[in-house]
Amino acid sequence: MTFKNQSFPSFLFPLFLLFSFLELIEAYPPFMTPPTWSLSMVSGGYWQLLQSSVGVSAMHAQVLPNNKVIIFDRTDSGPSNLSLPAGSFCPNNDCTAHSLVYDVVSNTFRPLHVITDTWCSSGSLDPNGTLIQTGGYNEGDHVIRIFPPCDDVSACDWYELTTTHLVDRRWYASNQILPDGRIIVVGGRRVFTYEFYPKNDFMNNNKSFYLRFLVETRDPEENNLYPFLHLLPDGNLFIFANQKSILFDYKRGIVLKQFPPIPGNDKRNYPSTGSSVLLPLRLTPMGPREVEVLVCGGAPAGSFLKSDKMKVFVEASRTCGRLRVSDPNPQWLIEYMPMPRVMSDMILLPTGDVLIINGASNGTAGWEDAVNPVLNPVLYSVNENPVRRFTVLSPSNIARMYHSTALLLPDGRILVGGSNPHTRYKFTGLYPTELSLEAYSPYYLDPKYNPLKPSVISVEMGNTVSYGQRFGVTFSLSLYKQGTVYVALMPPTFTTHSQGMNQRMVVLNLATVVQLSPFNYKVVVDGPTNANVAPPGYYMLFVVHSGIPSHSIWVNVI
Ligand SMILES: *[C@@H]1O[C@H](CO)[C@@H](O)[C@H](O)[C@H]1NC(C)=O
Ligand SMILES: *[C@@H]1O[C@H](CO)[C@@H](O)[C@H](O)[C@H]1NC(C)=O
Ligand SMILES: *[C@@H]1O[C@H](CO)[C@@H](O)[C@H](O)[C@H]1NC(C)=O
Ligand SMILES: *[C@@H]1O[C@H](CO)[C@@H](O)[C@H](O)[C@H]1NC(C)=O
Repeated sequence: MTFKNQSFPSFLFPLFLLFSFLELIEAYPPFMTPPTWSLSMVSGGYWQLLQSSVGVSAMHAQVLPNNKVIIFDRTDSGPSNLSLPAGSFCPNNDCTAHSLVYDVVSNTFRPLHVITDTWCSSGSLDPNGTLIQTGGYNEGDHVIRIFPPCDDVSACDWYELTTTHLVDRRWYASNQILPDGRIIVVGGRRVFTYEFYPKNDFMNNNKSFYLRFLVETRDPEENNLYPFLHLLPDGNLFIFANQKSILFDYKRGIVLKQFPPIPGNDKRNYPSTGSSVLLPLRLTPMGPREVEVLVCGGAPAGSFLKSDKMKVFVEASRTCGRLRVSDPNPQWLIEYMPMPRVMSDMILLPTGDVLIINGASNGTAGWEDAVNPVLNPVLYSVNENPVRRFTVLSPSNIARMYHSTALLLPDGRILVGGSNPHTRYKFTGLYPTELSLEAYSPYYLDPKYNPLKPSVISVEMGNTVSYGQRFGVTFSLSLYKQGTVYVALMPPTFTTHSQGMNQRMVVLNLATVVQLSPFNYKVVVDGPTNANVAPPGYYMLFVVHSGIPSHSIWVNVI
């Protein structure tokens, strides 16, 4: 399935999808073993309904290192469909839950108590794997909430810090974990500052700092909320908002570089919500050779005012921009997606490619502000010839638009939930509030790849990975192909509004692969170069062989 840089008339789109699908089937009959694995033979993957309703629409989600997912919505939109346990306290006299913990392994969930309003908030795990969740709306906009990853089935719950608060209101802000283990919180609606967590008197953590870039990138539609943040291997922060981006030294508060604006008329941040990823960092002993950022989707300037005020739904952006930020004078490479897309999530897969999933093809983020859900995920093949860059994958049958989420699970599936373009829960009419959870399994989970799929046996050093330190990972495999193994670290993301905060993929420098016995192997790799490349914390360690990832193992990078 290939697409050239051309515009594609939208009236042909249904036909086009049909042909894409037929072509996929033809290129790759589902049950025939391919002679050799290659990306051009990608198949469409499959969808699985995990829960028809968890009772709360998944607006925000975070995987924890104990294979549980914290899901939450907001407290100011009326009752949810999930009751708090009888006899437990009802925050604000509301005895329905606005948060839950979902257990990936057992496919079960239980309600949690969230007290103040978490609407359009942000979060990050700290180096201990504790969820630090920041801000929201109303009385919750300065609140810091904590969820520790405990295995106790009934007692674990949210707690809110009562004496420590955010300095500024954080509604539509973005978070990133830093090399020193602090978390930076950037922006928010009508807030042009950043600040740090934890709060203490050291390192100026009790203050907030003005960032002019957030003023400069605000237009009459805003289009700069939930700015895209990527911690770069030089220790600085890449910040993208609206159409502009900077290299920012957050320690000294200095803009080191302004990148060229992304070409074209499309805006990329909320409410013209696009998405962004830092492409995989492939480490040599000296660090990564190149560093690239990918931004896809969004909406043309003016789309939000049209959708919000006039209910006219302009076609979304069709483009992705790719910027090699490690170049001395980087220039955006613009590529065309197979279809227009706004509010899609971009997920780094352990294969090193990017999955573009969820979203709509007309309109913007906001209440009742989008139509034409895009049901097909698309694979962006990072290292493919640009004419074969995009592959259209199997569709879901559930619209996932405003306030939906998607994230990578430790087993390589994608957890997909939420979608609620209404001010309250509404189960009638177009695009009803979605309380379901689905899993999308990319092609690599097809059982026909089992002979190529590594199974991790152990990670040396007790699952602790130290910077620059060599360690071994043993795995078993039935059909070994020399020269096709790598080991990747991927942190669990905080996901909301088409952003995977903290998302990155670090491909470790490989020393050797040795055969231990007929089906057992050991791959020896070097820990990440430093904390700029991989900030401290929990990561999913995947062994990938011949393009097929293992189930991951949790490791702690220190
Ligand atoms: C949620 O609850 C409402 C009111 O009881 C009900 O009408 C609706 O069908 C429920 N929706 C789901 C998805 O469970
Ligand atoms: C992480 O846990 C250690 C040991 O329990 C504790 O000393 C430390 O303060 C924690 N760090 C954070 C950031 O919470
Ligand atoms: C900084 O924050 C900490 C934690 O809330 C608090 O104990 C301390 O008094 C604060 N210091 C200042 C100068 O505000
Ligand atoms: C979506 O956008 C296309 C292209 O502008 C337009 O032709 C179509 O009418 C729009 N769809 C809706 C439902 O507004």
